[in-house]
Amino acid sequence: MASANVFEENTVKLTLVGRKGNPESLLAETAKAIPPSGIRQFFDIVYSTPDCISLGVGEPDFVTPWRISDTGIFAIKDGYTHYTPNRGLLELRNLITAAIEKQHGISYSPEDEVVVTMGVSQGLDIALRSIVNPGDEVIIVEPCYVSYEANIRLIGGIAVTVPTFADENFRIDINRLKKAVTPKTKGILLNYPSNPTGSSIDYDTLDAIARIAIENNLIVFSDEIYSSIIYEREHQSIISFPGMKERTVYLNGFSKSHAMTGWRLGYVAGPKYLIDVLLKIHQYTALCAPSISQYAAIEAMQNADREVAHMRTEYTRRRNFIVSRFNEAGLPCLSPQGAFYVFPDVSPTGLSSEEFALKLLKAQKVAVVPGGVFGECGKNHIRCSFANSMENIRTAMKRIDKFVKGL
Ligand SMILES: Cc1ncc(COP(=O)(O)O)c(C=O)c1O
Repeated sequence: MASANVFEENTVKLTLVGRKGNPESLLAETAKAIPPSGIRQFFDIVYSTPDCISLGVGEPDFVTPWRISDTGIFAIKDGYTHYTPNRGLLELRNLITAAIEKQHGISYSPEDEVVVTMGVSQGLDIALRSIVNPGDEVIIVEPCYVSYEANIRLIGGIAVTVPTFADENFRIDINRLKKAVTPKTKGILLNYPSNPTGSSIDYDTLDAIARIAIENNLIVFSDEIYSSIIYEREHQSIISFPGMKERTVYLNGFSKSHAMTGWRLGYVAGPKYLIDVLLKIHQYTALCAPSISQYAAIEAMQNADREVAHMRTEYTRRRNFIVSRFNEAGLPCLSPQGAFYVFPDVSPTGLSSEEFALKLLKAQKVAVVPGGVFGECGKNHIRCSFANSMENIRTAMKRIDKFVKGL
């Protein structure tokens, strides 16, 4: 009969053979070395400040268009709640490849060259893991999305930064980029329209980057998640440059375009040799993207263009307002060509962007993100999202104006 003694004896043995010391010491060095997201730390303060207007959030304030949500609900009701093929539903992949071909004139095979992922976040992670060995370098263009450096470092890669500046319209200086390439460089990570600057990329710069990639045998990781939130000009992708489909990982998704951040859905398109490897990682780590979200995304791709256009029109109105108010307040602010962020320069106030953000939060209860979290060259700036109601943006801008005048 099992007795309390047996349990006690085993416990004693376990204590004797078990490793001594603090289990915390077992945490992986690479993961421990990654600093927590600067945005998250800041927002812990924001959430504990009542009546605060946040211009810090990087997601649409619109709810997912109802026809998309309704399709998701139907998918649940009808029992479409199982694993899908690893690559994602073929119907969705067909729609994705057709959309890319329509926009950029480049055709991908729905069978072999596309994988539906859990957002661009997971797509980028598995794309980097398919290419980067420990010690390899990947070039990132700063200021940039906060996850990039961590994504690269988590797989043992080294993020090499190329800075861009407001007085150059955040354009990539091609000479700076060329100098960043070393024998260890595996790829260049681009994000246009850009988070946090809202800048877009022109034909000549894309052409020059394509040439550098081909000459140096590099992969381009192209995060185009804001491609449908573009204002005056057409969005251009590096995949449409000669020889680039073969060496580009094209990343896009539904989070921003269709206000579907919580559905966690995106996709990766690339040449077969690369997608074959990427798919293995996807199979072993995720199996597939959420089935319900995939059915909803089919509806998004087929029937929600009007809703996407409506959101873009609304963002344009807000953008025009917020840009003019920042400039009137004496904080130089470029007009973003895409995405839903402005990145004004706060150096005329004499405050660092951290000081500006903290003092503004305390004095006027408006949350903005200090630009330094997006890279050293962003440190004189703040990022403000205009994915917020016009009413909130108006109030926030009044408060910012009052704050700046009172300094
Ligand atoms: C540039 C950029 N890439 C990727 C993401 C994450 O996208 P997803 O929701 O598709 O994972 C974001 C989210 O803010 C982003 O700004």
